[in-house]
This record gives sequence, structure tokens and C-alpha cells, in this order.
Amino acid sequence: MAAEHTITVTVNGKAEYLTVPSNMTLLAMLRDKLAFTGAKNGCSAGECGACTVLVDGEPVNSCMMLAVEVDGRSITTVEGLATQDGHLSHIQQAFAEHNAVQCGFCTPGMLLSAHALLERNPHPNEEEIREALVGNLCRCTGYVRIIRAVQAAAEKGGA
Ligand code: FES
Ligand code: FES
Repeated sequence: MAAEHTITVTVNGKAEYLTVPSNMTLLAMLRDKLAFTGAKNGCSAGECGACTVLVDGEPVNSCMMLAVEVDGRSITTVEGLATQDGHLSHIQQAFAEHNAVQCGFCTPGMLLSAHALLERNPHPNEEEIREALVGNLCRCTGYVRIIRAVQAAAEKGGA
């Protein structure tokens, strides 16, 4: 049986104190311990990006990171993207307006990768958008609408 560790982590702005097994992934911690089910398990192998969350503002595949590795760090999931008064962020609105969502399985990861891009580069060109989303696979949209949505969010003022 795996050893247990107590960690402190900030998730979507709220401090959480958790006991986690040493072999628990960050994805399992978010979904099973904290009920943040926006991050999806697509492949468990770092290939699809459906599990993308932000750790200290940087996109990571949460299926490939251990919960113990985020001790003391700050996590943002898709549930944390809306504004405090409950409005969708620019990037969320743009995905909805440009039909950049079909089945929605990839969408939380796409949104977080796009959010991180716009935070570090508010006016990305198409190549920079494609590069930022290269680790996020979508089986439905063909990417054109997703790229258009990121461009629209940038035009509206960023993430
Ligand atoms: Fe993590 Fe696919 S579930 S990369
Ligand atoms: Fe279905 Fe992207 S919208 S996988």
C-alpha cells in the first residue's frame, strides 16, 4: 500500500489540506478528492491533453503529475476560469460564440491552454495559437473554430 502524505495546495484560489497516497496523480486528486471533474481522463499517458490544468499558471498534463508534486503550489482548473461574479471569461465566451465545442471532452483542457497562452501573449498569431494547443487533441471540431475562438478572445481583451 502506498504511503500517505499531507499536502497543502491552492485550487481555484482556495487553500486545500489533503492527505494523498504517494502514487495518486494530480488528475485523480482533483477529480476524486476535490470533485473538480472538468479535467478529463482521455489517455492516462500524456498524449491527449484532456487532463490539462494550470500549475502556477503553466499548463500541465495532470495525469502525468503526482499529487505530492503540487504541495505548496497553485492549481487552476476549468472551474476556476469564470469571473468571481460567475460570468464566463473571454475565452469561455469565445468558445461558445464560435461553436468551438462539440462533444466537449477536450474543451476544459483547450480552454486552459488557451487561457495560459493569452496570459503570456495577449496577441498571438495563428502559428503561436496552434503551437500553444499542440498538446490538446480534439476529435470533433477540426481545430478551425477553436483557433478562431482564441483569436476572438484576444480581440476582446485576452483570457
Ligand atoms: Fe492526460 Fe491524456 S489524460 S494527457
Ligand atoms: Fe469533442 Fe474536442 S469537442 S474532442
